[in-house]
Amino acid sequence: MPKIRAPKIPDFVVPPPLRKPAKPGESGTPKGPAPADLKTSPPPRKTHGERLEGQAKEAPVDVLAWVDQRTGASGFLTGMMFRKVPKGTNWFYTLGSATLFAFIVQAVTGVFLAMFYTPSVTQAYASISHINNDVPLGQFVHGMHKWGSSVMVILIFLHMGRTFFFGAYKYPRELNWVIGVVLLILTMTMAFTGYLLPFDQRSYWASIVGININGTGPIVGPYLSDFLRAGPELGATTLSRFYAIHMLLVPGAIIALIGAHMYLVVKLGTTAPPWVRATKPKGAEPVAQLDGGSAGDGAGPAANGGSRG
Ligand code: HEM
Repeated sequence: MPKIRAPKIPDFVVPPPLRKPAKPGESGTPKGPAPADLKTSPPPRKTHGERLEGQAKEAPVDVLAWVDQRTGASGFLTGMMFRKVPKGTNWFYTLGSATLFAFIVQAVTGVFLAMFYTPSVTQAYASISHINNDVPLGQFVHGMHKWGSSVMVILIFLHMGRTFFFGAYKYPRELNWVIGVVLLILTMTMAFTGYLLPFDQRSYWASIVGININGTGPIVGPYLSDFLRAGPELGATTLSRFYAIHMLLVPGAIIALIGAHMYLVVKLGTTAPPWVRATKPKGAEPVAQLDGGSAGDGAGPAANGGSRG
């Protein structure tokens, strides 16, 4: 049977190689003589143990590649980790990440505390005492959670201040600012609801004060304080309600909103500090010249939709 020759594929259809071929002598190109013919002098056979060792070493990479093929996560992660940041980015830009870290610490320590805490008016205080006095590292984890809440509140305010003073709330980041405001309210809610949980004298009376302050708010205030108190007096149902809000409702909302917040940060990029001026791109012409050389001919800024009244 005559052999059918494969048609020649035109060059313009073939995509260029993804990686530039290394020049002779550059890393990747062997410098020594070409390897001997594999048929005449094959490399020594690997033992079963060596093969297993090789497979074990490759296993983590194989698992990652398997997940990546199915999710395309590496593209997203590469875009996120290697995104460009504006000139002048400084330490103040770390406040958002610091807030995120504080939240993660709160989430992790909170999970361990929840393993020993009992949300009941008769047992809450005793369970906290048990965590502090008997559980290994209990006092340390409880302390991290208690002080961490203040750290997170301080950091979130500093981060908000940074974004405000750097003008990062302006177009096109208004939505991220609004999400941030909701995150701020939710963080304050976490701090407030967590305060009642030890159910000692201080947390009991401080929560009454807090609930009453909420009640002074316009229109929704009285409804809000009724909702928080969950009855005519602060008691067992209040504690259950605060526990559910502190453990389930608000953390879930915070996680979802941090996801949206981060998505917008990556998508829109961060704002340059206000004192950094944009450099004029090479060959850029002043607007007046682009408009026809005259600023007063009526066809200038107004024609570009840029009228200032
Ligand atoms: C749980 C709370 C929060 C977390 C974890 C968080 C995290 C972050 C991170 C990591 C960034 C990027 C890096 C940076 O600019 O610092 C960022 C940017 C931003 N955040 Fe937050 N944030 C939180 C709360 C807030 C609040 C309360 C506001 C304002 C009300 C806010 C407004 C913004 C804005 C506008 C940006 C964009 C900054 C820019 O473009 O330069 N965030 N946030």
